[in-house]
Amino acid sequence: MHPENLQAQPVECCAVDSPGDVEALSPGRGYAGSVRVPGRHCPSTGKCLQRRTGSAVIGKSMSSIKTPRGNVAVIGQGHVGLRVALRAAEVGWQVAGYDVDEGRVKELRAASGSMDGIDRERLRGVVEGGSYMPTARAADVAGFDVAVIAVPTPVDAGAIRPDMSHVEDAARLAGAHLRAGAVVSVESTVYPGATEEVVRPLLEAASGLAAGTDFHLGHSPERIDTGNSVYTFENTPKLVSGVSAGSLEALAGFYSTLVESVVKVPGVAEAELAKIIENTFREVNVAFVNEIAAAAAALGIDAGEAFAAAATKPFGFLPFTPGPGAGGHCLVGAATYLAWMGRERAGSPLQVVEASLAANRRMTAGMVQRIHEGIRLRGGDLAGSRVLLLGLAYKAGVSQTESSPAVALANALVETGAEVMAADPYVGECRELSPAVARVEASGALARQVDAVVLLVDHPGFDLRELFDTPAFVLNMRPTAS
Ligand SMILES: NC(=O)c1ccc[n+]([C@@H]2O[C@H](COP(=O)([O-])OP(=O)(O)OC[C@H]3O[C@@H](n4cnc5c(N)ncnc54)[C@H](O)[C@@H]3O)[C@@H](O)[C@H]2O)c1
Repeated sequence: MHPENLQAQPVECCAVDSPGDVEALSPGRGYAGSVRVPGRHCPSTGKCLQRRTGSAVIGKSMSSIKTPRGNVAVIGQGHVGLRVALRAAEVGWQVAGYDVDEGRVKELRAASGSMDGIDRERLRGVVEGGSYMPTARAADVAGFDVAVIAVPTPVDAGAIRPDMSHVEDAARLAGAHLRAGAVVSVESTVYPGATEEVVRPLLEAASGLAAGTDFHLGHSPERIDTGNSVYTFENTPKLVSGVSAGSLEALAGFYSTLVESVVKVPGVAEAELAKIIENTFREVNVAFVNEIAAAAAALGIDAGEAFAAAATKPFGFLPFTPGPGAGGHCLVGAATYLAWMGRERAGSPLQVVEASLAANRRMTAGMVQRIHEGIRLRGGDLAGSRVLLLGLAYKAGVSQTESSPAVALANALVETGAEVMAADPYVGECRELSPAVARVEASGALARQVDAVVLLVDHPGFDLRELFDTPAFVLNMRPTAS
């Protein structure tokens, strides 16, 4: 590690920050991370005067990382971790990308497999250039100056409470290799308080070091929008937070080497909450427009036209388009975390969030019911009928199927005894999909041979005029698609 970066500088005060500094940073809230260690203190200010040397203590003067020199370990090499690792390797960090999934590591080394939105040539460049080492060996994490935790944060089997087990494993691993002066950033989406309550004690117990005094810790949520070519990892403002003012500066310094704009959030819990607010905002609005679209359909009103008309208002309105439900594990997971926080922690259920989650969950049964009705009105029965589903991904133009409402519908239709076919040119192998679902290519000829055609994902390339030109029952879950 280059000395101007993370190597702890001699500091004048062993307290992480003076209370004044902290108040200025965190108006209106206490400061859990402010720690004083025994030493000689100024009688008037109370500040520690003991001069510390070496790297055992870090302080405010060791503020920011200015140049990308040193070792970065990114724990978890999925959609989030890979982007961080790739960018860090490109700008000059020496990156170990650790993942428990050996198959994933092999794919990354060969620059193959699912790389939604990631240019394989970029990946190949850093692998072959030696600045990025995908690895399934936990020991390769050793020697990091910055560790980024980017592992999954699912919800438990009942989908009601956070499952922090992957984050706990990652924290234990980082803690085992943690050195004084290093930085740990949690990028996984977590509930407010988790970095302090879950990650901090595990790091401290495994390392024997103290967060905010011996090493830096903070949360920096990821904001990837897969398939968005306008807002990328590099040009999307990155929230950073820290358990102390020094940690905040250290995270800000590290991420400033990766992205164009860093936004300092005064508290870690506030950064954690900001991320799940962003995602839940979508979850709630998806439920809102879908309920309206279903009611409009029942009344014979064209919801697509209505939403398009509303979207012409240039202020006070944000357009959301109806679809088959909320998808992508990050979205549903974050809203579930927020609901849990209200229910279990704040003691006041977040009723709008709970209702939105429930409304989105009801979408699958609602779609099955509408297909059943459509076929019945044509004199058929859903059991034994042939249903063609257009799209399996959770949104247009991507291959991800995590928490995809289209996959949920396909599996539910199989349960009814229908013969289910699904066409999605973007999706390769889909582990969540029932093996009874036949993967097919969408064509007008096929659409004319089935009993129902259901548009779930408006992927570019679906010729809707041809696919909807069929005597079959057509359910268009993307009424704004053309
Ligand atoms: N995908 C998104 O668009 C997105 C956006 C913002 C935030 N997030 C959040 O970021 C986190 C990671 O999401 P993702 O989409 O990258 O998940 P992912 O499933 O694509 O990848 C996670 C990776 O972590 C690996 N892993 C699991 N446990 C591990 C461990 N203990 N050590 C090392 N590797 C481990 C898995 O094998 C997997 O390859 C989650 O909390 C998610 O909610 C995701």
